[in-house]
Amino acid sequence: MWDRKEKPIVVIVFCLPLLWLLYSLFSGRYFPDPAEPFMTLSGIWASIFMSITLSLSILVKHPRLKVVSRYRRFIGLTAFGYSLLHLLAYLVLHAGFSWLWISEDVLKRPYIYVGLVAFLILLMLAITSPKRMIKKLGKKWKTVHRFFYLATLCVIAHLWWQVKSSPEIAIWLTLIMIVPLVIRLKEVFLNKIKKRLALNL
Ligand code: HEM
Repeated sequence: MWDRKEKPIVVIVFCLPLLWLLYSLFSGRYFPDPAEPFMTLSGIWASIFMSITLSLSILVKHPRLKVVSRYRRFIGLTAFGYSLLHLLAYLVLHAGFSWLWISEDVLKRPYIYVGLVAFLILLMLAITSPKRMIKKLGKKWKTVHRFFYLATLCVIAHLWWQVKSSPEIAIWLTLIMIVPLVIRLKEVFLNKIKKRLALNL
């Protein structure tokens, strides 16, 4: 459970990148082409919060760090929030809500499709994150939420597919996401093997 006092502090801290992005946008810092920096930065923040979500799912296994588990859902939702901002930036700043322009653009930049798959998975996880949905889905909830790993792989593909000359962003974001992803997947597979062995005994 959240501490009443810490909730507003955590919310403010997680909203700081959003406030900075909006301030920079409206104060003209991204002038003359606000779409590119706004999209890049919102995408970077979405990836960072995805990496934190993955890392927390490993840290909570440590008895002393169990306390961080109460932030997990909120950090996952924050990752979704920044990816929604990234999508809105694409639709509004980049495409000016022109569906004809978008239909031509996605043909030129197919990496948008894998980004969209990642976004749709995050949307599904956000919808199924409230407590009543956890109750409703029962055992299936865990399986549904394992799609987060697939979303991470889609984001990594989204990043590398669009690299033209400088791969720095793709390298750093891949590193911070792939390390916790591999550790987590190893844990999931080992647990499955242990359960199967226990059933056979
Ligand atoms: C609806 C889904 C998505 C669409 C339409 C989309 C579209 C785009 C486009 C057009 C760019 C290139 C921007 C430019 O040329 O400046 C881009 C970059 C980027 N996207 Fe996405 N994206 C989507 C989903 C995601 C998601 C879910 C993430 C992360 C969680 C993400 C992370 C990034 C990052 C970090 C970049 C910057 C990469 C770089 O500059 O090297 N995107 N995206």
